[in-house]
Amino acid sequence: AAADPGKGERVFSKCKACHKLEDGANGTGPHLYGVVDREVGSVPGFSYSGALKAVADVWSPEHLDGFLKNPKGYAPGTKMGFSGLKDVEDRANLIAYLGTIGG
Ligand code: HEM
Repeated sequence: AAADPGKGERVFSKCKACHKLEDGANGTGPHLYGVVDREVGSVPGFSYSGALKAVADVWSPEHLDGFLKNPKGYAPGTKMGFSGLKDVEDRANLIAYLGTIGG
């Protein structure tokens, strides 16, 4: 089935405790406004671990899929405390949703 951004918006509830979608609104994690195709580790004022830049330059859909499936496996040393989204459709829907936000 084609990715469904509406379903992805519901999946984003798992991210909300740490990530806002408004530009500049950092929390425990960096804001995710325009994150699809955004430069990795580039939000001003957010203190990154450095683990993400070691594995990717830009958050392409493919890199997002790999990271969100298994954050600590994909980017060893990341400080993103999230176990991952094991369901491939959940990831595709979420990435489609994030693609509708900013950028
Ligand atoms: C980093 C997405 C859940 C905390 C990131 C980045 C993305 C992302 C794309 C890299 C952003 C960049 O390079 O600017 C998501 C999504 C989530 C999720 C889509 C839900 C499926 C969480 C949760 C937490 C969290 C639940 C807190 C418990 C962080 C932190 C970083 C980060 C601290 C920085 C990691 C580092 O510097 O190593 N997240 N995240 N995230 N996220 Fe998440």
